[in-house]
Parts: sequence; structure tokens; C-alpha cells
Amino acid sequence: MPKNILRGSRVKRSSKRANDFISSIGFDAPIAKHVVSINMAHMLSLLRSKEVEEEVASANLRFLAGLPEVMRLDPNTEDVHHMIEQDAIKAIGMDTAGYLNLGKSRNDQVATALRMETRLRLLSLAEALVDVQKSLVSLTRKYGKLLMPGYTHLQHAQPVTVAHHLQGYFEAFQRDIDRISDAYKRVNLSPMGSAALAGTAVRVDREYVASLLGFDGLAKNAMDAVSSRDFALESLSTAAMAMINLSRVAEELVLWSSLEFGFVEIPDEYAATSSIMPQKKNPVVAETVRAKCGSVLGELTAAFAITKALPNSYNLDLQEVTPHLWRGLADTTESASLTASMLASMRFNKDRLDASLREDKSTATELANRLTRAHGVPFRQSHAIVGELVRSSIERGVSLEDVAAQELARISERVTGHPVKIDKHELHSALDALKTLELTDSAGGANPLLVSSLVLEDSDSVKRNASWIIQTKTSLNKAEARLREGARRTSIGVKTRR
Ligand code: ARG
Repeated sequence: MPKNILRGSRVKRSSKRANDFISSIGFDAPIAKHVVSINMAHMLSLLRSKEVEEEVASANLRFLAGLPEVMRLDPNTEDVHHMIEQDAIKAIGMDTAGYLNLGKSRNDQVATALRMETRLRLLSLAEALVDVQKSLVSLTRKYGKLLMPGYTHLQHAQPVTVAHHLQGYFEAFQRDIDRISDAYKRVNLSPMGSAALAGTAVRVDREYVASLLGFDGLAKNAMDAVSSRDFALESLSTAAMAMINLSRVAEELVLWSSLEFGFVEIPDEYAATSSIMPQKKNPVVAETVRAKCGSVLGELTAAFAITKALPNSYNLDLQEVTPHLWRGLADTTESASLTASMLASMRFNKDRLDASLREDKSTATELANRLTRAHGVPFRQSHAIVGELVRSSIERGVSLEDVAAQELARISERVTGHPVKIDKHELHSALDALKTLELTDSAGGANPLLVSSLVLEDSDSVKRNASWIIQTKTSLNKAEARLREGARRTSIGVKTRR
């Protein structure tokens, strides 16, 4: 028997450098346990259709069941698929392990194993994003009522509440989770039984193998099953999208924790100091999340570029996607998980938020609305009148309220031909941040009652998300238990009803 089962017949000479170069063993660790499960399920299926004898199946299943959870991957092998088969032949002999690869190829096996690990990683990512949502809801409960400036162009625009701002983030993460659960449906389809690309004459029961491995269905066309990696690209895309949203939060935390804003205090655990400037408290975790977004986009771009324009069907190029897939999903999950913890213990500073709204003129829009709705001025003219009031307030260094009290009649007469008269009380309430907030009650607006009803719905969404994750994990665990039990019974020679 040749030392390397994949060599010796068709290709004779080998080069260590070339072998190292084309080996995936350095990044096969995440799929090792799945490859063992696939071999088990495949062997059970071969036995069921009488393609192998009981003794062959039981010897292989005993060997596979005895493999440690965390396998030591031999750096001198081409990949984990090759290593397991070679180890089996060494351990239990050709007469039994020689049948392990009957009716299967590394091509369907690797695609299957990648999907099995990807689905777990999608679930972990969804879990971390649900944690972010939980932190947002709890922050909202604590600080939601506080007023803060709402920005456009990073300039004060209109007053909002902390709840309105945070609820917006919540929505974005809900879409990320929805995208993950949607992608999961296309990831969780089994390629096994496709063999190299054409299917096989060997009787493999694809449905049976799929169910033993916890899949919801089959990747139907054998060529597509072995050659497509859009499940990986789609998973990475959902991760990249989530990273975009996480990076937006991170950027605001960096800004908000600066002296100029001072809106939030980042918990010490998520900050670091400077090696030279003893006063520094740097928001290093938020900065790193912001940067990881770039890294994940890089992984996504690499994966897209590698798979672009590949001819059908399997090409070794596909193997190069794998490390990008693992890194992209891992970075995103860790970023989400750290963001969740950081938000959970973050504090808002009411005094700084209040100070930022003082004389920021962000209630000007509501004053213009009032000139139109209560005093019959066309909105474009109301806009011009209030714009002039703001300019004059800034030039004279006097509050908008005082300027309006003194100049509204004169300016409105110049703009419209008729002086608008507003009494002190009406003017005061038109320029009050909380009052204007209460008025902005169009659906999805900043009105505090509307926002709190959305926050209530958010708690329901969190529950639904969490229960999808639990149900999905439970069904994977059940399949795994059935597979192990089937393998155990066969390996000790217990006849199972077919
Ligand atoms: N190691 C490969 C991968 O990760 C699987 C092996 C396919 N090799 C082959 N010659 N068909 O994609």
C-alpha cells in the first residue's frame, strides 16, 4: 500500500512544497468533526442499501466513533478528508476502511461539511446579534426618556429621545437577523450523494443521509451541489451587512465618548489608556469593531473574487474560500458579542445631553410648522422667516425665543406682506424640545409614546429570534443524537429495523 493513499497510481512523484501549497489542512479544523459525522451517515446509508456488509459498516463506525472530538490534524496530509480515510485504513485495514469512500467524493463531502459548520456559525452570529438587541432594549429602559439632539449631516437637526435613536439601531439588527435566518434555509441543504459531480451508481440514500446530518433538504443538482459556494458568499454577505451596522454603532460610541460630546461613558473594561498620556481613556473596543468591518469586507471581497468565473464544477480554487468564510464569520460574531457587552454596561450622561440641546435651535422646524398650521403662512415662507430669525439670533447672540418675540412680526411682514403675531406663551411652547417631540407623532416618529410602543414590540422580536435559534439548535442536536445512536447500534451489531 502506498504511504499516501491519494498517490502512487496515476501521479507518482510528489513535491513537499507543492503538497504544502495545495493543502487545506491548516484551516480544516472547524470541519473535522463534521467530516466524521458525514462518514458515519454515509456508512449507515451504504449498509441500509446493502452496498456494504454489516461487518464492514460496524468496523468503520467503531473506528469513527472512537475518533476524538478535537482531532490532531497531521500537517503533512492534503486535507482532513484524506487524513481520516488514510488513518482508518491504517487502523482497521483495507478490507473494511477501504469501503469508506464508496459512492462519495471529497467534493460532496467538503461542501457538506462547510455547510454544517456555516450553519452553526450563522446561529452563533444570530445569537450575538440578539444579545446586541437585548442590550439596546435594556439601555432604552434605563435612558430612553432622555432628550438628545437628532443629527443629519452630523449637525443638530431636531430633538429626539435616546429611545428613538437606539430603537433605530434595533431595527437594523432585526433585519440582520432576518437575513441570517433566510440565508440559513439555503445553507442547510445537503450535497451528500452528489459524489464528485455526477452522482453515483452506488445506492446512496440522499434523503436518509441528509436527515441523519440535520439538513432540511437536498442541494438537488449534483454539479451545482459540489461547485456552488454561494451559500458561503451569502453567509459572508449577511455578516458583512451586520458589520456595517455594528460599525455605525461603534463610530457613534467613539464620537459620543469624546470630550466634545460626552454623551456616554464607556465601561472601563472596553477602554484602554495611553502609554504616555496618563489622562487618556481610549474607546479601543469600539475602534476595533469599526476596523473589523473593513476586515470582514475584505474577506467577503476575497471570497467573491476567488469564485468569480470558475468553470463547472469542482475546482480546487474553491478551497481558498474557506479561511475567508471562517474569519469573516468569527470576526463578526466576536464584534457583535463585544458590542452587546459594552452596551449593556454603558451609561448616558444626562447633563451633557441637556447641555447639547441648549440654544441649538433644533426646534426651528416646529416653529415653522406652527406659522403655517396656526397662522396661515405657506410653508416655504415660514421656512424663510424662521431661517432669518435663526440667523439674527446667532448674529446678535440672543436666544431664538427672544429674537422671535422681538422680530417675528417685522420679518414676517417683510416676507409675506402681513405681520404674524404670536404671544409669548405660544412661542415658548413652539420652541420647547419636549413639546415638539410630543407633536412629532407620525408613525415611526420621535413621539415618546410611539417609541415606547415600538420598544414593547422589540421585546417580542427578541423572544421570537431567540426561540428560532433554540428550535434550530434543538433539531440539529436531535439529528446528531440519532446519528450517534444509529452508529452505536450498528457498531455493536444490534439489528435495526430497516
Ligand atoms: N480540501 C478540499 C477543499 O477543501 C477538498 C478536496 C477536493 N480535492 C479534490 N482533488 N477534488 O475544498
